[in-house]
Amino acid sequence: MEHDSYKEFDPQIERRVEDLLAQMTLAEKVMQMTQININHHGRDELEARIRHGAGSLLNMYGAEILNEFQKMALEESRLGIPLLVGNDVIHGYRTIFPIPLAWSCTWEPDLVEEGAHIAAEEAAVDGTNWIFAPMVDICRDARWGRIAEGAGEDPFLGQAMAGALVRGFQTPLADGRHIVACPKHYAAYGAAEDGRDYNTVDISERSLRDVYLPPFKAAFDAGAGTVMSSFNEIAGVPASINKFLLTQVLRDEMNFTGLVVSDWNALGELIDHGVAPDLREAARRAALSGVDMDMVSDAYHDHLQSLIEEGAVPEAVVDEAVRRILRLKFALGLFENPYGDTEQTEATFLQPPFREKALEMARKSMVLLKNEAPSSQSATVLPLDAGEVMRLALIGPLADDRREILGCWHRIGRWQDSESVYEVLKKSMPNTEITLVQGCSLEGDDISGFEEALAAAIAADAVVMVLGEAEAMSGEAHSRAYLGLPGRQEELLYAVAAAGKPLIAVLMCGRPLVIPWLAENTAAILLAWHGGIRTGGAVADLLLGKANPSGKLTASWPRALGQVPIYYAHKNSGRPADGPGTSQFDMAHRTRFIDEATEPLFPFGYGLSYTTFAYSDLQVTPPRDLQGTLRVTAVVTNTGAMAGDEIAQLYVRDLVGEVTRPVKELKGFQKVFLAPGESKQIAFEVPVQELGFHGLDLTYKVEPGDFHLWLGPDSSQGLEGAFTL
Ligand code: GLC
Repeated sequence: MEHDSYKEFDPQIERRVEDLLAQMTLAEKVMQMTQININHHGRDELEARIRHGAGSLLNMYGAEILNEFQKMALEESRLGIPLLVGNDVIHGYRTIFPIPLAWSCTWEPDLVEEGAHIAAEEAAVDGTNWIFAPMVDICRDARWGRIAEGAGEDPFLGQAMAGALVRGFQTPLADGRHIVACPKHYAAYGAAEDGRDYNTVDISERSLRDVYLPPFKAAFDAGAGTVMSSFNEIAGVPASINKFLLTQVLRDEMNFTGLVVSDWNALGELIDHGVAPDLREAARRAALSGVDMDMVSDAYHDHLQSLIEEGAVPEAVVDEAVRRILRLKFALGLFENPYGDTEQTEATFLQPPFREKALEMARKSMVLLKNEAPSSQSATVLPLDAGEVMRLALIGPLADDRREILGCWHRIGRWQDSESVYEVLKKSMPNTEITLVQGCSLEGDDISGFEEALAAAIAADAVVMVLGEAEAMSGEAHSRAYLGLPGRQEELLYAVAAAGKPLIAVLMCGRPLVIPWLAENTAAILLAWHGGIRTGGAVADLLLGKANPSGKLTASWPRALGQVPIYYAHKNSGRPADGPGTSQFDMAHRTRFIDEATEPLFPFGYGLSYTTFAYSDLQVTPPRDLQGTLRVTAVVTNTGAMAGDEIAQLYVRDLVGEVTRPVKELKGFQKVFLAPGESKQIAFEVPVQELGFHGLDLTYKVEPGDFHLWLGPDSSQGLEGAFTL
C-alpha cells in the first residue's frame, strides 16, 4: 500500500513550521514538548495546559472527548496548534487481532500490514492520530511479559514485521486522515536481565547493532515519523539520556529526522536510575541527549524554560524539537482537520471485512505443535471429523473464554465482540454432544471440577483441553519466574489424562510456555495464543480441518525454564554442545546441561500442517562478488492429502569471522501454497550486503570466506548447501 513517509521534508511545510516557530514564546515551545494524560494530570490541569499550548495527549479514547480538546486547543490557545493524540494500538483498536507474537507466526508481512491499516482506520476515525506501535523489541527470554507484543527472537523477521506495520499504520486512511507510527522501545528493552520488565540491560554494542537495532532501522526506512525511547538503561546509560543512541546512532548514522518521545515518565525514572538527583537535572540531560517530547513526567514542563534562560540548555535544542513536533502536525494535516468523526465511528468499527481479516489472521497465527496417531492403526488425531465425533469433552478454563483471548494491550477492545471456542464448536458440530467442563480456574487452587472433567473425558469420543494464561499474565509489568501452566491446570491435565483418551490440547498464552508433560502425553497440540476476537472461530476451523494450520514459531519454546534465554541464532562457543569427540571426557566437557538437552522443545520456525512437505533440488548460485547476490532455489512438494501453506526458510552460517558469528541466521522466508502432490520451485535472492555483521571495529562489514546454508521447514533442519564469498 502507498504509505506516508516522514523522511523527506516538504518545503511548504518547512515554511509553515518556521513561520509558526517564529511566533512562539519560549513557554509555548516548552509546552509543545509536553505530553499529558487526563488521569495523570486531572481534567482541570489538562484543560489549563491545552489552553497554554500543550503539544500532545495520550491514552485517551473517543472522538467525542478528543474533539472537545482539539477544539479547545485550536480556539482557546494563543496560536491554535492542534494536539498530537497518541494511543497504544498494538494489535487492533476495536477489531482486536492476535497479539503481535501470534501474528508474527503468519510470516506474512503483507497480512500484518493489512491488520495495521484496519487498526489505523478505526483509531483515526475515533480521534487518534499517533499510534504507539509497532513494538519492535527483539526478545529471547519468555519470562519477559512483553515478548507478547513483538515479533519474537529474530532480527530478520523482526525487520520484515516492523516495516510492514509502519506501512500499514501510515497508509493514508479512507477519509483523508493520517496516522503516524512510533516504533518502540528504543532500544534493547527486550534484553532485560532475567526477563524482569524494566530491568538492567547490559549488552555489547555489537549485540545492540547486530540484533536489537535492525528492526528500528527497518521501521525508519519504512518512513516511521516518531520513535519512543525506552525505560531501560543500556550498559549504565538509560535510553532517555543516551546520547550515543539518541543522537549518534539515531540521527547521525540512521538519519532519522522524526520525533523522539520518552516512554511514560521515563524522565522521572532517571532519578530512580540514579543518574539525576532531581527532575531538573533529568530534564537537562534528556533535552541535551535528544528527547523531543516528555511523556507525562513534567520534567520539561517544570524545568526546561529556566534551564534555557540560565543557558544550561541552548534554545536551539528546543527549537529543533519543536520543529519536529510542528512538522509532524502539519504533515498529518492536523491544522486542517484534527478531529475524529463521531458520526462514523460505529460504522467504521468491526466492519464485516475487518472481522473476516481478524479470522484469517487468527487462523494463520496458530501453530500446530503436535499431531500424532494415538495408535499405530489410527490416523492422526487432528483434524477432527465432526461426523464421527458424537461426544466431545471440551475441558479447561479457556474453553468458553471471550475475555482473555483479546490478549494484552487490547485497550478498548471488547469481549462482547469476541467468540469463544465453545460457542463456535457448538455451531460447527451440530450433531455432536459437547460437554463443557471448566475443570479449574486459570489460577488459584480450586480443583473441585476435576472429577466432572474426568467423567466427561471417560464418556467422550474425543477430548479437547483449552489451557493457558490469562491476558494479564503477559504484557507490560507481567514477567513470570515460572513458565508452566498457571494455577492447577497441569494437575487438571493429569486428571483428565487418566481417562486414557487421546488428548488434544489447545494452548492460549502470550509467551512460550514450559509444557514438557503436556507435550509428551497429548496426541495433538494447537497453539492458539491470545488470538483476538476471532480466536474461537479460528480454533474451531483448524480443529475441524476447515482450515489447515500454517503458523510457525517466531520464538523458541524451551524444554525447561533453566534453558532460558534460548534462541536458535546462538554462538558456537569453543565447546559446542553437538561438537565432535566421542570420549566420555569430550562429551562431558561441552556447553551443555547435565540434566537437560540444549535444544528447545519446539525450535524457531517450527510448525506442522495437516499435510506434509518435502524439499528437494537445492541449487546454490554463489554471488560473483561482495556487491552481488546469493541465489538459492529448491523445490517444495506437498506430499500429503490436503492442500496447505508451507513457510520455507533460508538460514546462513558464516563459518569464520573476525568475531564469533551465530551458528545460523535467517536470511529469507517464503510462504508457498501447494495442492496435494503439487511441487513448486522457490527462489531466494540474498544481497551479499545482508550477510554482514559489526566487526572488531564495530563497523558493518561483509567478510569474504566460506558459508553454509540451509533451506527447509524450520531452524533445526533443511537441505544443506555451501558457498564461498
Ligand atoms: C507504557 C509502555 C509503552 C506505552 C506507553 C503509553 O508504559 O511502556 O509501550 O506506549 O506507556 O501507554
